[in-house]
Amino acid sequence: MIRARILGVGRYLPERVVTNFDLAKMFDTSDEWIQQRTGIVERRFADEGVYCSDLAAHASRQAIQNAGLQLEDIDFLIFATLSPDHHFPGSGVYLQAKLGLSEIGCLDVRNQCTGFLYGLAVADAFVRAGVYKRVLLVGAEVHSSALNFTNAGRDVAVLFGDGAGAVVVGPSEDESRGILTTHLHADGRYAEILKLDIWDISKKPYITETSLTNGDIWPKMIGKEVFKHAVTKIPEVIEAVLKENNLKTTDIDLYIPHQANLRINQFAAHRLGVPQEKFYSNIEAYGNTTAASIPIALSEILEKKIISENNLIVMVSFGSGFTWAASLIRW
Ligand code: UT7
Repeated sequence: MIRARILGVGRYLPERVVTNFDLAKMFDTSDEWIQQRTGIVERRFADEGVYCSDLAAHASRQAIQNAGLQLEDIDFLIFATLSPDHHFPGSGVYLQAKLGLSEIGCLDVRNQCTGFLYGLAVADAFVRAGVYKRVLLVGAEVHSSALNFTNAGRDVAVLFGDGAGAVVVGPSEDESRGILTTHLHADGRYAEILKLDIWDISKKPYITETSLTNGDIWPKMIGKEVFKHAVTKIPEVIEAVLKENNLKTTDIDLYIPHQANLRINQFAAHRLGVPQEKFYSNIEAYGNTTAASIPIALSEILEKKIISENNLIVMVSFGSGFTWAASLIRW
């Protein structure tokens, strides 16, 4: 059987650092409140004129180089984001053109915080089936254009940052190493809890004068509901992937959770009885970068040599939809 594995990883963060103190100059918040509730200290914001496909292009080039490949080796592209360049066409084709990848298929994934893991499941299936050999998967976000930097939007505005992470997925020469299993879940009954209302195709036209001024242009979230479900579903899906593979929590060398809130990940680790240091965290530096957070973390982890060949890792995520997912990998 062909097994798929991650051949290379890259990341890109915009240079502009925005601290909690910078946000506190714009609306009523404080470094203390943000750090206590979320663990975030600072995040990166892209400048005016920068698209999410621009961030993705930097991360992608690094991932391809890290895999020891050339651009022309890539035979399929998957782009996960909730902040696409435009509503259509998808950001995948913009990235394809920016990288100069000619005529390969491009698929856009719109699964918010779990977009990377949904994309990974698709890339894994394509490679295992022998359909494609080198799939570029990128998660990228420019959140900073769609955050409400006033008191009305402060619950959401403090959480998010911009960035991109990318991987190349291809066949593993050793069938015991690679992506062992990925579990994907969703529950659309909770779709209203974290969403952006502005694009409403039931309206004619789909964006009204009222929706431009009544707050619909900003994301809305019932934070406590997201938190409550996240701390239940994250341990649940981790336990499910472990059970399927006859593993215990202690067999895992590193957990790489989506970086939405340090408290969520601490709760999840506690519920599983896993030491906090086994749950990787970099939220203090970047905030929540949604589809980009797991590949950004993975790229840092490899650079710091925190994992090595044959280590078992679990990537896990929960977010808007609700959607949640976990992937077990033997590195
Ligand atoms: O990838 C998935 C994306 N989202 C998440 O994972 C978010 C999950 N939820 C959370 O992380 C938390 O719910 C938050 C960090 C967003 C909020 O924490 P909370 O403990 O649920 O706070 P809260 O919404 O209940 O608000 C507590 C207080 C309120 O004031 P009062 O009513 O107690 O006077 C808020 O108005 O904190 C106030 N508040 C703030 N204060 C300072 C809300 N946002 C802020 C802020 N700065 N940025």
